[in-house]
Amino acid sequence: MDKFLVRGGRPLHGKIEISGAKNSALPCLAATLLSEETVTLHNVPYVKDLITQRRLLEDLGATVLTPELRTHKVNARGVQVFEAPYELVKTMRASVLALGPLLARFGQAKVSLPGGCAIGTRPIDLHLRAFEQLGAVVSLESGDVVARAPKGRLTGAEVEFEKVTVTGTENVMMAASLADGRTTIRNAACEPEIDDLAELLNKMGARIRGAGTTEITIDGVETLGGAEHTIIPDRIETGTFLVAAAITGGEIEVKGCGPEHLGAVIAKLREAGVEIDELNQSTLLVRRSSAGLKACDVVTEPHPLFPTDMQAQYMALMTQAEGTSTIVETIFENRFMHASELVRLGADIQIHGNTAVVTGPSRLMGAKIQASDLRASASLVLAALCAEGETLIDRVYHIDRGYETIVRKLRSLGADIERITESPA
Ligand code: UD1
Repeated sequence: MDKFLVRGGRPLHGKIEISGAKNSALPCLAATLLSEETVTLHNVPYVKDLITQRRLLEDLGATVLTPELRTHKVNARGVQVFEAPYELVKTMRASVLALGPLLARFGQAKVSLPGGCAIGTRPIDLHLRAFEQLGAVVSLESGDVVARAPKGRLTGAEVEFEKVTVTGTENVMMAASLADGRTTIRNAACEPEIDDLAELLNKMGARIRGAGTTEITIDGVETLGGAEHTIIPDRIETGTFLVAAAITGGEIEVKGCGPEHLGAVIAKLREAGVEIDELNQSTLLVRRSSAGLKACDVVTEPHPLFPTDMQAQYMALMTQAEGTSTIVETIFENRFMHASELVRLGADIQIHGNTAVVTGPSRLMGAKIQASDLRASASLVLAALCAEGETLIDRVYHIDRGYETIVRKLRSLGADIERITESPA
């Protein structure tokens, strides 16, 4: 298992280019299953989850060409398998995004039920209930979700999610694009990735209005065609580099990002003493203010409020802020796994249910620590960058799922970080 060795204490300086959004590229790749024609996606980040998603498409029978590293040309005309097996779903929960497109185009789909994961149980009951409302018959057979559209096609319906779900909204939006009649999704997720997916689907011929708001209307069409689309920048990678500049006391120009998708994060970081200048529509200049960092409370909420995917990185930052901050996690029930590792580095963090109380600033000292999930690993890397001495971070395969060439990017900013690859004995 690969590890990162970080020698902390160096302020990061320089320019960094943000990659395409993993959480947008995943549903957009799934959406290619809706059409017989070729869909070309640009700016697909080269990360493990996207390699897994590509493998899923190929296993189903689609052809995927990559004329350039970050361009995927997918043709799903030859799809003959309608199943996402456990081996894939267990490594990447987002493979459930194949359900909606397969069900809508072929009237059948089988996807292994995702088990628990490090950050909670993460059921897909809301996706399944919505498919039933669109006329699907859903059953659980030996750990697999089997969904069928009895007439071969789904029927438009009113869907109201009792809880905001990002991939649930995406799954239903894709399924409804090929359903007979109109579907309305209420209490829809508003994340920018939903909007990006809707833009792709509309380019393919779908009729979707309201994406990016809590109510989305989809008028089903007979078939969808080909399209060409560029994935939006990754707002969580952007936020992670904003914190990297602030936590190390450096200055970074973050290029190719979408500041309009990061309103709550930028506002919170500014409140905490991080100076962020918008140099142009896609470039941010970030540095810690001379007055230093100060503790500020945060609550994670669905977009446009503070994202749960930035909670771990923000916690790392708060270990360096003056005072006591309270971090409340409302989206996932078990998303503080990084806290105990930060404590091993010397942080002062108390956990009470879904609330973390961080008192700073703490002098962090290098230690052996372990990553538990994707964003937790990012938070550990950030903490290690400002810790004195050497930190060895184990299980970094989590970070490879979603951060493109993170070691190379951090090294280009002056970080002393290296990947240690252990060959199996
Ligand atoms: C997506 C993102 C993930 C992010 C999360 C919240 C992708 C690939 N992943 O995950 O990075 O952290 O949104 O912004 O885009 N829930 C149910 N039943 C369901 C579906 C969800 O109870 O059927 C619950 C979940 O357990 C969780 C909450 O709803 O507590 C939100 O989950 P959801 O928005 O669905 O997260 P994902 O789409 O899995």
